[in-house]
Amino acid sequence: MGFPHTPHERESLVLSKHFGEQEAIGLDGWRKRGGYVALEKALRMEPAEIVQIVKDSGLRGRGGAGFPTGLKWSFMKPGDGKQHYLACNADESEPGTFKDREIMRWTPHALVEGCAIGAYAIGATVAYVYIRGEYTEAMEKMNAACKEAYAAGILGTNAMGTGKTVHVYVHKGAGAYICGEETAMMNSLEGRRGNPRIKPPFPAVSGLFGMPTTINNVETLAAVPHILNNGADWYKTFGRADNPKSTGTKLFSVCGNIAKPGNYEVALGFPFKDFLYDLCGGPLPGRQFKAIIPGGISVPIQTREEAENSPMDYEGFVANGTMLGSGGVIIIDDAQNLVKQIARAARFFAHESCAQCTQCREGTAWTTKILERIVAGDGTHEDLDTLLEIADNMTGKTICVLSDSCATPVVSGIQKFRPDFEALIKRKKVHMVPAQVA
Ligand SMILES: Cc1cc2nc3c(=O)[nH]c(=O)nc-3n(C[C@H](O)[C@H](O)[C@H](O)COP(=O)(O)O)c2cc1C
Repeated sequence: MGFPHTPHERESLVLSKHFGEQEAIGLDGWRKRGGYVALEKALRMEPAEIVQIVKDSGLRGRGGAGFPTGLKWSFMKPGDGKQHYLACNADESEPGTFKDREIMRWTPHALVEGCAIGAYAIGATVAYVYIRGEYTEAMEKMNAACKEAYAAGILGTNAMGTGKTVHVYVHKGAGAYICGEETAMMNSLEGRRGNPRIKPPFPAVSGLFGMPTTINNVETLAAVPHILNNGADWYKTFGRADNPKSTGTKLFSVCGNIAKPGNYEVALGFPFKDFLYDLCGGPLPGRQFKAIIPGGISVPIQTREEAENSPMDYEGFVANGTMLGSGGVIIIDDAQNLVKQIARAARFFAHESCAQCTQCREGTAWTTKILERIVAGDGTHEDLDTLLEIADNMTGKTICVLSDSCATPVVSGIQKFRPDFEALIKRKKVHMVPAQVA
C-alpha cells in the first residue's frame, strides 16, 4: 500500500509525515527530524504535568473506543509504591485496519518515544509493546529501534541522563484477534491463553501481573511526543471548530472497492465525502459505492448517503449511524454481494471467539451458519428475524465486545440493506416453485 498524499499535502501531516523516508527509520535520521526532544523535556517534568497537557489536548484513544487518554492516565497513581506498567497495544487485527503497522515500519522511534513518555507519566518504569505475531517487519523495526535507544542511553536506568528509569520491551503476539482486547492482551503477555478478563477490577487497579496498568494503542502513543513538543492548543487546532470533543489528526486505512486504497492522515472532522472522492479517488470505473464501514469491521455499516454526510470524527460518525472505531475504512461497491461480505465477517468472528461466553461462542457460530445458508440460496424470511434475535442476545451480555462486534454488521446490514437479503431468499423461492409443480 502506498502513501497517497502529495508531497505538498504531506507537509501538513503529523503522524505520517515521514512515512516512506528510509532515513527516518534509524535513530540518527529520527533525531534529525526532532526525535526524542519531547522525551528529554518530559523526563524533567512532573508526571502530573504531562498528564494535564495530554488531558488538555483532547487526545482520545485511537484503538477503537475513543476513551480520553489523559483521563485514563490520571487513574494511575505514581508514588503508590507499586510497580506500574504501560502496555502498548500493537495487535492490530481489526479487519480493514493497517495504520499501526505503518507507524512501526516507518517511524518506530516515534512509538518508542511515545511509550517512554507514557510510561513515565503514569509512574511506570516498564512499557511492553505487544505486536501482532504476523507483523514480522514491524517487529524487526521496533526491536532495532529499542536496541538503538538503549545503546544511545535514551532508554534504561539513566534515561537521557536524567536518572529516571524507562524500559521498553517488544513482545511478539500470539496471532489471535482476541489478543487485541486489552485484558486478553495482558493474559497473553503473562504467558497465559489470551482470554479476556472480567472487569472490574480495571487494569488501572489490577492489570499486568496484578499491578496497575495502562493500555494504549500505537497511534495514541505516537501522537504524544507531538503534543509535548507543540502544546495542547496546537493539537486542538486540528478538528471541527464546532466540535471540541474530537481533536487532532487521525490515520485512516482504506481498502476495498476504491480507486486509491492506502493510509491517509486527516484532521478529525474532515468531510468523509471529500475524503472518499477527492483523496481516495472515488469508486472504481463504472461503479458506485454501495456500503461503507468506516471504523473496522466491528462498527455499523453505513449507506452511501450516511457516509457522504459524515464529518470524520467520533461524534460525526455516530450522528450518521456508525462509529469511528479503529479508522479502518472498508468500501463495498454495487458489484458486490453485500450479504456474502457480512457472512464473511461473521465467519471471522466465529473463528476468533475465545469461546468463554456462551452468547458469543454459540451466537457467532449460529449467525455464520444462517448467513451462509442465505448466501447459498437456502434462506427463509424467518431467518432474518432469527438473526436479529440472536444478535440481541449477543449484545451487551458478554465479558468483552467481540460478540457485540459480530452482531453489529448483521443488524446494521439487515436494517439498512434488507432488500439485499430478501433478494437472495426470493431467488430460492422462484427456484423451488417449478420443482414443486413438477
Ligand atoms: C475483540 C477486541 C479486539 C481489539 N483489538 C484491538 C487492537 O488490535 N488494537 C487496539 O489498539 N485496540 C484493540 N481493542 C481495544 C482495546 O481493548 C483497548 O480499548 C485499546 O487498546 C485502548 O487503547 P486506546 O485507549 O489508546 O485506544 C480491541 C478490543 C476488542 C474488544
